[in-house]
Amino acid sequence: MEEGFRFFKLNTGAKIPSLGLGTWAAAPDVVGDAIAAAVKVGYRHIDCAQIYGNEKGIGSALKKLFDDGVVKREDLWITSKLWCNNHLPEDVPKALDRTLQDLQLDYVDLYLIHWPVSIKKGSDAKPENLTRPDIPSTWKAMEALYDSGKARAIGVSNFSLKKLGDLLEIACIPPAVNQVECHPAWQQTKLQAFCKSKGVHLSGYSPLGSAKNTHRVLQNPIVNTVAEKLGKSPAQVALRWGLQMGHSVLPKSANEARLKENFDIFDWCVPEDLLAKFPEIEQSLVS
Ligand code: A2P
Repeated sequence: MEEGFRFFKLNTGAKIPSLGLGTWAAAPDVVGDAIAAAVKVGYRHIDCAQIYGNEKGIGSALKKLFDDGVVKREDLWITSKLWCNNHLPEDVPKALDRTLQDLQLDYVDLYLIHWPVSIKKGSDAKPENLTRPDIPSTWKAMEALYDSGKARAIGVSNFSLKKLGDLLEIACIPPAVNQVECHPAWQQTKLQAFCKSKGVHLSGYSPLGSAKNTHRVLQNPIVNTVAEKLGKSPAQVALRWGLQMGHSVLPKSANEARLKENFDIFDWCVPEDLLAKFPEIEQSLVS
């Protein structure tokens, strides 16, 4: 942990901003406004994916921010993800090229295998389209993207401890990040310990408990007690807990007031005695 919890250092040496804006389920026509508002608030990390269907909107917003001199490309951290129907080695570079074209960028800071699941080329994520994943060959193609400089770091998402362990066995370039759902009601304790022991950074999506389930975090009595004691909101406490556990956090919001609220997590902390209450929170992935 460095610089007041603002960054985490990856195994590539790069510093990933610890707070990123999630863009999942942000409609293409509103995502641009959310990005512009977030960057103006101070966000420097945007978490994208080809399957979110909004990378063109994000690209236009980024271009305007760069053209207007609001932020420089080198001061932003942009992540994107390889969708499951592009796992064949020959499709991996094409998928990144499409993402780069949509985002209007020359490189991404981080490119992730979105899921350890493969589906037929060009098909939808339906059970009948599932194919046998060949993560080693997909990873080799990811390594080539790293070597090309188009992806300055590579990693995975939604990988279990076992799947991450298997990948680490064969990787020439180890994954820099495993991005998984992580919040006080799904703390990923074992996976976090494993990631830490292997030098893989754990990045937490849905740090407020995911769109339909935020009540499990934001209405949790322990989170609320801590929030009251600290004079912070439950969302701020959940995000700050993530930082103190060593995760980067990727809350999504299209609302300017909540973007600001979620950004205000750097100049205070959850003291040890209150942090010690979080392991008591009941763990479940869905309500
Ligand atoms: P909104 O965009 O209206 O702010 P995810 O799990 O995908 O990250 O989604 C987070 C959900 O939590 C979104 O529905 C978002 O809605 C909402 N949200 C974001 N920030 C806050 C906050 N500070 N307090 C309460 N809800 C929030």
